[in-house]
Amino acid sequence: MNEKNIDALLSSLEQLAAATLAALAAAKNQHELQLAFAAFLGKGGDFTALVKLTGTLPVDERPRFGAAINVAKTRCEEFRAQRQSELNTAEISHKLASERIDVTLPGRRGFIGSKHPITLVSEEICEIFTSLGFGIAEGPEIEKDFYNFEALNMPKDHPARDMQDTFYISDEVVLRTHTSPVQIRTMLKEKPPVRIIAPGTVYRRDSDITHSPMFHQIEGFLVDQHVTFGDLKGILHSFIAQFFGKGVNVRFRPSFFPFTEPSAEVDIACVICGGKGCRVCKNSGWLEILGSGMIDPEVFKSVNYDPEVYSGFAFGMGLERVAMLKYGVSDLRLFFENDQRFLRQF
Ligand code: PHE
Repeated sequence: MNEKNIDALLSSLEQLAAATLAALAAAKNQHELQLAFAAFLGKGGDFTALVKLTGTLPVDERPRFGAAINVAKTRCEEFRAQRQSELNTAEISHKLASERIDVTLPGRRGFIGSKHPITLVSEEICEIFTSLGFGIAEGPEIEKDFYNFEALNMPKDHPARDMQDTFYISDEVVLRTHTSPVQIRTMLKEKPPVRIIAPGTVYRRDSDITHSPMFHQIEGFLVDQHVTFGDLKGILHSFIAQFFGKGVNVRFRPSFFPFTEPSAEVDIACVICGGKGCRVCKNSGWLEILGSGMIDPEVFKSVNYDPEVYSGFAFGMGLERVAMLKYGVSDLRLFFENDQRFLRQF
């Protein structure tokens, strides 16, 4: 190695530095700057390749060349930092010039939740009945077989259990299929006269446009001396007139429940089709809203009320059904889909 070689390397270095500075200057954005930096100063870049040639110089020349490389590299790195902040500033001022914020635009309103239609209906029904002198009671949704079936005159092998197939937690514990167990719980605690309504969630193995496996009922019952079926009719007519409006067609249809005798189901004219027949009323023109009847003496026996002294009536109403009728909703499942477009309307 001789002087000539170091001169040649020094002039290559100078050319490389000039090319690096030019490339950094030409970069139009951060990305291009990054690429230019990697090509010249990065790990596999041209500077690294030149540094490797130091080894071909005589030992006493190497420090001079090394120092020259460091100077050139530092210059390029400083320039890169300068370009980086220039490009940053340019990008920010470009953004500021092109993006306008309209401070006069009205803000977006938050949606304040509203009561669920089932809650609204439940509250309204409770209000009507409390104004008629009824008190409000509640019972557990996970219920003992005894309260849900047995004490309501539905022993284990009773065929009426088929209509209320439910979710069994164990042989003795079920998700309640109706609010009627609240009758038993109340009567075991209180002596007549009792006048109670009991709203709540109930469960059955059922699912179509008018049935959901989870739904709501309001139970109502009254026990005293000399209570007649006429009292039941009077109370229900008065309730229906207040809730649905006067002049809504109502009919009592003979039916059967193990815990009432006689029993009746109550229908009101389908308000979806006006009684003409539609898929909601299954073309009958009527929609069943509740089951009712005079409390069976067997039930009184299981709560130690004397059937010779007391009589009473009971009814159980489906809240989804009455909400559908009141608001003209044609599919019960809408109540549980939690679609805001639906819920916002109440
Ligand atoms: N519990 C009955 C049902 O869910 C309704 C009912 C209640 C019938 C009270 C009569 C008396 O089907």
